[in-house]
Amino acid sequence: MAKYIIEGGRKLEGEIEISGSKNASLPIIAASILNSGVTKLYNVPNIRDTQIMIEILKVLGCKIKKSSGKIVIDSRKIQIHEIPEELMRKMRSSVILAGALLSRCNEAIFSCPGGCDIGARPIDLHLEGFKQIGIYIEENAGKIKCNCQNIIGNEITLDFPSVGATENIMLAAVNAEGKTIIKNAAREPEIIDLQCFLNKMGAKVTGAGESVITIQGVKQLKKDFGYKVMPDRIEAGTILCAAAATNGKVAINNIVPEHISAITYKLEKMGCKIKIEKNKIYIDASKKLKAQDIKTMPYPGFPTDMQSIFTSILSISKGTSIVVENIFENRYRYTSELIRMGAKIKIEGKTAIIKGVRRLYGASVTSTDLRGGASLVVAALSAKGTTEVSNIEYILRGYENLDKKLTKLGAKIKIKEGD
Ligand code: UD1
Repeated sequence: MAKYIIEGGRKLEGEIEISGSKNASLPIIAASILNSGVTKLYNVPNIRDTQIMIEILKVLGCKIKKSSGKIVIDSRKIQIHEIPEELMRKMRSSVILAGALLSRCNEAIFSCPGGCDIGARPIDLHLEGFKQIGIYIEENAGKIKCNCQNIIGNEITLDFPSVGATENIMLAAVNAEGKTIIKNAAREPEIIDLQCFLNKMGAKVTGAGESVITIQGVKQLKKDFGYKVMPDRIEAGTILCAAAATNGKVAINNIVPEHISAITYKLEKMGCKIKIEKNKIYIDASKKLKAQDIKTMPYPGFPTDMQSIFTSILSISKGTSIVVENIFENRYRYTSELIRMGAKIKIEGKTAIIKGVRRLYGASVTSTDLRGGASLVVAALSAKGTTEVSNIEYILRGYENLDKKLTKLGAKIKIKEGD
């Protein structure tokens, strides 16, 4: 596996563009099979997860052309309704294809999803939602077979506002008979992006961004259209934290500031100056960072995907911070690596107690998952000396050209390929 070699202690300065959103691209690529037509997607990040999703679509029968940031998906022919187990295991969000396949072909076969190991991550809410709209589910030896005569609109109340379950039910219900109402739906911006995409395709979806989403089933979808994916709010947050970690001054372009207000609010509380313009944020982190407590929550609360990255900067902030992870269990595995760099972190259940130290020191550390890996990169940028971050394949799942972007801002980071 490849490694990042990072020489820490350089202030990040300058300006960069944020890529398209991973978590918006994945359900949108999956949804591109709904219209039996040709869909052009813009601003899709070229990362491992989008590559896997494209691989799966090809297996199903789609023809796909890729050029920088643009993907053309021809879904006129879908011959296969089964998601290959090997690809499914590589990426949990491939489960989102189940809703799309059911909508398109009345059948979807898949295995229990894989992805980052950050807790149990069950799919019971997805399957319960499917049952409510007339889909039969058979589970046998780790394989899940879903099929239906017709998908029939119904009212579904989610036990928890799961992002994936909300998206999967939205996709399954696009062509349903009648109206589907999802209550206690996830409110993440990526759900709004999916709604915009589906409506551009001719679907009738309202309410995304609020906790009740209504999908009025339609008979026909547009065969040929284009859509530009929203910017990646977690990448934006990561770069802001990298700037904060190095006491730098950075501007990030091509973002929706409102999407990251929970992040910028915390950075301001930590002593950073934030200036917001239309699609741009400036951070000036020249002052010593201050401790801050954080609790992860569904959107618009503080995002779980930023928990590890904030823990890195809290590790070098003055005072003691308490972080509470409310979304995923087992999302603190990276902390043992930060401790190797000199961080003082104690984990008690879903709480991390972080006592700020003056500085971290370069070490050999290993990524345990995508965002845990990113937190090590941020820590390494601030550390004294050289850090080797191994298993960067996890990081490459979700960040496009992270090394190049950080280099543009003045970091010393290079990739060393594995043996
Ligand atoms: C999505 C994001 C991920 C983010 C997460 C929470 C994508 C590709 N990934 O993941 O980056 O961290 O939202 O914002 O968009 N749950 C169940 N049963 C289910 C489904 C979920 O119990 O059927 C639980 C999960 O175990 C977890 C919580 O609900 O504890 C949130 O999961 P969910 O919102 O579904 O996250 P994902 O869609 O997997």
